[in-house]
Amino acid sequence: MDSRSLPVAATAALIFFSVIALSAGTAIVEHTFVVTQVTMTHLCKDTLVTVVNGQLPGPAIEVTEGDSIAVHVVNKSPFNLTIHWHGVRQLLNCWADGVPMITQRPILPDHNFTYRFDASGQEGTLWWHAHVPCLRATIHGILIIRPRHGAISYPFPKPHKEIPIIIGEWWDLEDLGQVDRHLRHYVADDYFKASTINAKLGDLYNCSGVVEEAYKLDLEPGKTYLLRVLNAALFSEYYLKIAGHKFIVVAGDANYVSPYTTDTIAIAPGQTFDALVVADASPGRYYMVAMPNQPPKPDYQSPVLPTRGVLQYSNGAGGNQPGDVPMSPEMPDNHNHMLSFYFHGNLTSLHHPRHLPVPKRIDERLFITLGLGSVCRQGQSCERGAESDEVIVVATMNNISYELPTVSRPLLEAHYQNPSNIDWLQELPDVPPRVFNFTDNSLIPTGPKEEQLEPTSKAALARRFRYGAVVDVVFQSTSMLQSESNPMHLHGHDMFVLAQGSGNYDMERDVAKYNLVNPPLVNTVLVPRLGWVAVRFIADNPGVWYMHCHFEFHQSMGMIALFIVEDGPTANTSLPSPPVDFLTYGDDNNLMPDEYYL
Ligand code: C2O
Repeated sequence: MDSRSLPVAATAALIFFSVIALSAGTAIVEHTFVVTQVTMTHLCKDTLVTVVNGQLPGPAIEVTEGDSIAVHVVNKSPFNLTIHWHGVRQLLNCWADGVPMITQRPILPDHNFTYRFDASGQEGTLWWHAHVPCLRATIHGILIIRPRHGAISYPFPKPHKEIPIIIGEWWDLEDLGQVDRHLRHYVADDYFKASTINAKLGDLYNCSGVVEEAYKLDLEPGKTYLLRVLNAALFSEYYLKIAGHKFIVVAGDANYVSPYTTDTIAIAPGQTFDALVVADASPGRYYMVAMPNQPPKPDYQSPVLPTRGVLQYSNGAGGNQPGDVPMSPEMPDNHNHMLSFYFHGNLTSLHHPRHLPVPKRIDERLFITLGLGSVCRQGQSCERGAESDEVIVVATMNNISYELPTVSRPLLEAHYQNPSNIDWLQELPDVPPRVFNFTDNSLIPTGPKEEQLEPTSKAALARRFRYGAVVDVVFQSTSMLQSESNPMHLHGHDMFVLAQGSGNYDMERDVAKYNLVNPPLVNTVLVPRLGWVAVRFIADNPGVWYMHCHFEFHQSMGMIALFIVEDGPTANTSLPSPPVDFLTYGDDNNLMPDEYYL
């Protein structure tokens, strides 16, 4: 039966999920995602939440490497939206990348759209989320790609069970787009109410004496569990710990890493880590804590809102009575960013047939500074400084803040028709306009030195790459107005993480630190706070790809650029024509940035 031929309502009622086996052992895995608003109650308050199939987190997509995936999105929500398959390579399939007005028109309320893509050449944990600002806080789910020959072909002992651990946030806002509009126009701060594990707030939260439910996992003594950890939160990097247990990290961003044993996982928004946990503690109950970290003062201080779940031994002798107080892990200081620095720096890729060698040739070099700045609300000159209301604070790459263009059709469509159609995009320069001490702590609060450096421009920022070019990018976090780290995500490509360091990057000195032997391969690289990271990628996937910070506030404030990869010389190296059922409505109406997702 072809579920696609059913009317939508019937599909929604009968089939959320199906698998059609194909001959070569691969399958087409089909899902129907009905996006609706449902009421959820936490902390004594009912909130209308926009979710897929009534679930938070949304449905897991589980496939075998080489399968094809079809997801029929039925938008019954009041918002325009798209879904992005975060980390899926989408080789020669940029059309399915799900970025509004870049790769497709948004799916309007009461409209449907089908995404079709392959899960080939990747194994591990990825995820999907709405790619309209902030809505991903409630529209997200995990995407699991298992090896073709099943769990026996994992490059680690076969786990007893596989468990998704999705770190998120509870927002009591009906229209999350408001958060983005506030950030873009720099008018108000919104904040979430609690962190969550698998959408449970946990017992650190209560209201009128009603304690929030906690995520619970039953462990059998001696067994090994594979946790598939995802940070789906908008705002923070998290430290994850389990009392009395260690993690053995075996993969990140669907790429295997050499087994790395640690008691703390540091995970930034957008990242995924697969970690083994052996149930080898004495039978009892143990808290798993996810705690957001943040830079210390003088950075702005957010409320610290950790969450916790419980791991409990199911059939241990004694020590496992339901009333027992679980053991708590000792958590690091929420300002300790070096723990994250070392965690990420200790990862190396595993020697594995799927992993290709690092190219030695370099065709292009970019040095990109990441930070904040400001533009005048009106005109070219205005008063800067902490007290000024004449400025909008923006986030930048090389001192330019991305501006959503007003366009009548997706840029990818215009580019496909003729690459010169999008020549008007402004080129992301190789280097920032000024060299200064990028990590000078005195630039964090506004002051005369900082105010000199603060003026910024806005543009639809893009960079073109020849097909096959090997590109080196050094990302440099700066201390302009804040000193956050920056989880930079590149669509359609994985990046080799060659090195990271504290302070300012120095080519003469730092190239010697590059790991060209077994660097980890990632789709989201955490650029350390007051430090830098060097990555290398091969521009082998023609299309128009988003590259942005996965902190939602940085993204809304403009820390975005488009990486445009040109066609190669052959059909196999060129962007194919758009799928036949591609969205074409509203052709002639210019879509204003606010309408991309409203
Ligand atoms: Cu996970 Cu462009 O995003």
